[in-house]
Amino acid sequence: MKFEFYLPVEILFGEGSLEKAGQVAKRFGYKAIVITGRKSTKENGALDRLIESLKKNGAQEVIVFDKVEPNPTDKTVNEAARIVVEEKVDYIVGLGGGSALDSAKAVSIVSSNEGYAWDYVNYPEGPRLIPFLNRPVICIPTTAGTGSEVNRYSVLSNPIRKEKLVLSHSLNYPKVAIVDPTLTLSMSPRLTAITGVDALMHCLESLTNKVENPFAEELAIRAIKLIKEWLPVAVEEPNNLQARTYMSYAAMLAGIAIDKKRVALIHGMEHPVSAHYPQVAHGEGLAALGPAITDFNYKGNPQKYALFAELMGYEPKPHKAVVALQDFLERVNLRVSLRELGVEREKIERLTEDVYMLSRSLFVINPVEPSLEDIKRLYELSYEGF
Ligand SMILES: [Fe+2]
Repeated sequence: MKFEFYLPVEILFGEGSLEKAGQVAKRFGYKAIVITGRKSTKENGALDRLIESLKKNGAQEVIVFDKVEPNPTDKTVNEAARIVVEEKVDYIVGLGGGSALDSAKAVSIVSSNEGYAWDYVNYPEGPRLIPFLNRPVICIPTTAGTGSEVNRYSVLSNPIRKEKLVLSHSLNYPKVAIVDPTLTLSMSPRLTAITGVDALMHCLESLTNKVENPFAEELAIRAIKLIKEWLPVAVEEPNNLQARTYMSYAAMLAGIAIDKKRVALIHGMEHPVSAHYPQVAHGEGLAALGPAITDFNYKGNPQKYALFAELMGYEPKPHKAVVALQDFLERVNLRVSLRELGVEREKIERLTEDVYMLSRSLFVINPVEPSLEDIKRLYELSYEGF
């Protein structure tokens, strides 16, 4: 057995932990910027509560940057980074879903080094620039899915190049994650399912891929059990705090699991989809692709797929992983096809090329190494729904 484990993120988990933000932040300075989305954190009061906590604890100025879009772009990150530099901001707080947190982390890198956001994303041949510095980042998730609050990844979209790539660097870890499950209570059933399925896919892909890290797998295993039990409850009873708490916890565990073990082909094939169709939520794209890719993958790691099936309440047989996933997606109303998400059939060729151009570094760690024909076929199978 061998593994490495490094996680330089202080985690504050629990109901009401948002109110600790100010206490935590004061060690980082006096001038803050909050990176958030356009609406929800204002509507549910989280933004006001955060600002109040920061100001009560000595923050002299809190700038609000509320332009983060779903599938956040490099342009938005560059714009926020320019403000951080011009205003001499001491620290950055990301408040919101994965988009806000990913952006906040990337803003730290871009504002502290030369160049622009796209210089730091990971093409298969590596990023164009390596960061040397960062600014402190506090991440406060209001969804339970990406796990961005505890890992080194920022997923960014470049709408001009129609590419979606990951910024991944040890300087991209937040300093602090404040995970307050009450902040997720206002998520709609649909958003709950979409983000929860993202967390499940983080577990499935990190559990089954070829990267060796048994410690991280334990986290994925625990998270699968929790998601199986509590995501349907959170979808059906949005105000169930116990369900919300376990989902926040599971998403966090899954976020650590992918930090150590990475993802695999389901994510590799989803990113081009939401790059070309930004209206598609990441979790929806994963839901559309997951079953066909699981059917392709299970023979490459029969033991782990049998375990996944068992954890989801099915017979411990590798092929049962497929039906376990299909049934679960059905249960949370996320049994979708690429066609239903608005993907055009004639785009499949281009999507296939993009997986190769942008995500081929995942091929070797996928349970079964795919050919381009395999990828095209998997898009085709997912087009009408698998
Ligand atoms: Fe994801």
